[in-house]
Amino acid sequence: MAEKPVYITTPIYYVNDRPHIGHCYTTTFADVLARFWRLAGRETYFLTGTDEHADKVVSKALENGMTPRQWADRCSEQFKVAFDLIDIRSDVFYRTSDARHKELAQRYIAELQRKGDIYLGDYVGWYDTSQDEYLTEAVAKEHNYLSPVTKRPLEKRTEKNYFFRLSAYQDALQKHIDANPGFILPEARRNEVLGRLKQGLQDVPVSRAIKAGEKGWEDWGVLMPGDPGHRVYVWIEALCNYLTAVDDAERGRFWPAGFHLMAKDILWFHAVIWPAMLMAMGRALPGHVYAHSYFIRDGKKMSKSEGNFIDLDTISAYVQRYGSDAFRYYLSTQGPLSTNDADFTHAKFVEGYNADLANGIGNATSRVGNMIDKYFASVVPDPKGVLSLEGHDWAAITSAAAEGALSAIARGDITAALNEGIGLVRKVDGFINITEPFKLAKRLETEAGAKDRLAAILYQCAEALRVATVLLSPAIPRASAQLLATWNCAPIGAGVGLREVADIRGAYALKPGQGLTKGAALFMRADPAEAAPVAAASTPA
Ligand code: MSP
Repeated sequence: MAEKPVYITTPIYYVNDRPHIGHCYTTTFADVLARFWRLAGRETYFLTGTDEHADKVVSKALENGMTPRQWADRCSEQFKVAFDLIDIRSDVFYRTSDARHKELAQRYIAELQRKGDIYLGDYVGWYDTSQDEYLTEAVAKEHNYLSPVTKRPLEKRTEKNYFFRLSAYQDALQKHIDANPGFILPEARRNEVLGRLKQGLQDVPVSRAIKAGEKGWEDWGVLMPGDPGHRVYVWIEALCNYLTAVDDAERGRFWPAGFHLMAKDILWFHAVIWPAMLMAMGRALPGHVYAHSYFIRDGKKMSKSEGNFIDLDTISAYVQRYGSDAFRYYLSTQGPLSTNDADFTHAKFVEGYNADLANGIGNATSRVGNMIDKYFASVVPDPKGVLSLEGHDWAAITSAAAEGALSAIARGDITAALNEGIGLVRKVDGFINITEPFKLAKRLETEAGAKDRLAAILYQCAEALRVATVLLSPAIPRASAQLLATWNCAPIGAGVGLREVADIRGAYALKPGQGLTKGAALFMRADPAEAAPVAAASTPA
């Protein structure tokens, strides 16, 4: 039987804000992970998109003299522009205003009502209008009745509301998390969730009453089944998107998701509420719920009030100067993947770019390409079966790198997977320093066997760099495609595994006798003294 496809999701983003580096980070994380899984030979389905039925979306639309639909169309378009800019290749850009989503989400809610897992009750609570979220009395009090996120005053609300019987799933959730150590990643986040779970679960409201004539809501949101005076609460409906997107004959095989990716802010919804809803619906649970940390800027949290977001215009300026690969690489290797926040600084960007890209893979491939051009007339030299020299067994080294990448992506760790590629580049650099092919080339006439040794050295270098390029391709797809094309490497077919592609004795290895054009430099060195690129012109919000 074919291996199960890997379904990867990002949060669906609210259309009240313009896209910024935070949204781009999670989406790049997902894109790189999806490309790795495709490289691993697995079919993948990668979803990103927008969450459109929040209160704040409706109020933003009204403030701007638009209908929610017009406003959502415009803002979701900006997310698409942002994601195109950084070469995101999702299989779907999903919007909760799609008829398909609304219809299926409503069907799930109706099913939960029928089963008694959703019931009508009274709700008195503290509502955080800036986050569209109810807080418990304890949490509200702890924060002096201010939003823990925006510090705006909480509103006390009493409503006839529908509730989801979350409390009934406490034990089952606990068991699931205990039995599946990789369900919530990274581990420290898992411990946080377990700690909160132990305090006990209360039922959660899943509807929002619409007042008669409430503006903007005439034709917006998902109607509560059997009660058109209520909309399904945006969070509950939004979570359903992951399932509504694939719940049909064609895409049903993608469920359950392999990876739900997000930042720590919304882990509880994904690690507790959503799995409990899925249990109630009798559906399989996702494999991994991965919560990364935040990108901050120069040591400070990015926020509207600080006005310090790395926004789309700044991202665009970086992409123009250094290329989309460079931006993706920075996010993927220096982003907040673990439990620490990551500081966006220009100095770090340039340092990583020069070390790994310009002076790393870029320099190594051009050095080796130049030597093959010069000493072997741009033809891949024949190692005559010698694949190991000076303690470097390249078949073992490259296959260990591929194995390392495979085990890293199984736990969502794209940084570790990319480090396998960079590690190979460093080994090639070290090998060149030991074997000194440029010196050996001067002794070809005088030293017996020098030509064969040079051929073996350069073949090994080129092959290891080919594998490194493949391992880095999820983050730097443009440069990788450029190099593999100029080196005449066979395109990687769908369904081929990484072990096979990385095998220097296998079908994808460079073929002696075949042409290898040296090609243009993959990355130009960046000048560390040059000031950070500045956004050219700001597009209106
Ligand atoms: N609409 C909800 C999600 C519903 S999913 C069923 C939402 N949207 S959001 O627009 O606020 O996006 C939050 C997500 O954006 C975070 O979980 C994270 O993926 C990303 N980020 C926003 N700011 C971020 C940083 N400063 N740093 C890293 N990622 C951040 O919540």
